[in-house]
Amino acid sequence: MPAGEAASNSAGADKKLAAPYPPIAALRRDFIWGVSTSSFQIEGATNEDGRGPSVWDTYGHQGQTTSKDTGDAACDHYHRYLEDIALMQRLGIQAYRFSVAWPRVLPQGRGAPNERGLAFYDRLIDAILVAGIEPWLCLYHWDLPQALDDLGGWTGRDSAAWFADYAALVASRYGDRVKRFATFNEPSIFTLFGYGFGGGMRDTAGVESLHRVIHHVNLAHGAAVDVLRERVLGCSIGAIHNNQPCLPSSPADAQAAARCDAYWNRAFPDPQCRGVYPDVMRAAIEPYVQPGDLARIRRPIDWFGLNHYCPVFLKADANARLGFSFGDRPPEIPVTPIGWPIMPDAFRDTILEVAKNYGLPIYVTENGLGGFDKPDESGAIVDDNRIAYLRAYIGAMNEATAAGADVRGYFVWSLLDNFEWDSGYKMRFGITYIDYPTQRRIPKASFHWYRDLIKAARGQSGYG
Ligand code: FCB
Repeated sequence: MPAGEAASNSAGADKKLAAPYPPIAALRRDFIWGVSTSSFQIEGATNEDGRGPSVWDTYGHQGQTTSKDTGDAACDHYHRYLEDIALMQRLGIQAYRFSVAWPRVLPQGRGAPNERGLAFYDRLIDAILVAGIEPWLCLYHWDLPQALDDLGGWTGRDSAAWFADYAALVASRYGDRVKRFATFNEPSIFTLFGYGFGGGMRDTAGVESLHRVIHHVNLAHGAAVDVLRERVLGCSIGAIHNNQPCLPSSPADAQAAARCDAYWNRAFPDPQCRGVYPDVMRAAIEPYVQPGDLARIRRPIDWFGLNHYCPVFLKADANARLGFSFGDRPPEIPVTPIGWPIMPDAFRDTILEVAKNYGLPIYVTENGLGGFDKPDESGAIVDDNRIAYLRAYIGAMNEATAAGADVRGYFVWSLLDNFEWDSGYKMRFGITYIDYPTQRRIPKASFHWYRDLIKAARGQSGYG
């Protein structure tokens, strides 16, 4: 057992944690506990076994991430996946959410598949199943093949067909073993940050492109749902959305906040689940909508994947492309080490809102705390702040359930510290610490806490 782990088990972490578990009595008996990751953030091996480059490889290699980090090594999960699955087993999770790297299985994004890349996910899925864990496969967590971006990426309508073909490949290859699929992770985030705010990956494209891209990603979602439904017997399909209350920084910013809410929270689930675009963007999207498109997008799905961290505060900004930009939060609100407001009641309200608006079973597919964790002198990572956050947020989820929301599962973001996009490796969301120079995995105190919570929740120990 690594020294750090022993220490965090014995150095009082467990003792301190004996009492402060959240109430979970309202959760279903068959509630699913899990962890989430994504391909680009953990795999590394970006140049191995025939993988093609993704837009994030390009962005990193051009030195464009604020951190100047790249995803080249990440957590080296490509080679260490068995070790990572062993961690999952120790946690006692029922489900593991990961994503397939499109450029690993289709280096050009379309055309000839890469057998060695496909074989990696065979090995991964088989090992997850052997560990008694259900694989939850997300098709797209932002690593668009560079070759497709060179052709215009999501700005072209063809992108929906490229995505459907990729979905067909994944479904045919893994559909005998994987039954849980998600189409996109947080489409509003990669579209808003890539095209909406300016300064993003495709900054030159401008706000007109944002509206095209929103529609094409929605079409791609609908097409992939059909493909998965047709090819995978007994599959359960969801879409994963980032949904955070958009709050005005001052009373004068109410309209700005409402506009942001439409782009951030509703541009995808509204057409996907209800067949309509929010009013504020309808006219801008109209030029790209062909007859029958909304029916193509609104395909029946089985669950809503909710990623939630904290509310965002907005202010009116006449110079911003969309008329709003990030504003100040009230100073009295506590924040995480990376400055995200801690507001568990907002999580409860978001769950209730999503339940009311879309009427689907909800899985919380991401939630967690970002910090700058470091081992203490004994080598332990005692992340009490993460434990407190998880406790408060799981408690809020219990409250939402008690108030009638149909919440069926919860996945911590993330199993491992990883490549946090623009912020690189300094920002840590894992319940397992990664010592990047050695790639050593060290479970943090929150890992043990989550393991004990799961055990208790499943009736395997006294608590609950
Ligand atoms: C979400 C992303 C995930 C991770 C967390 C912190 O928006 O889906 O990849 O970066 O935030």
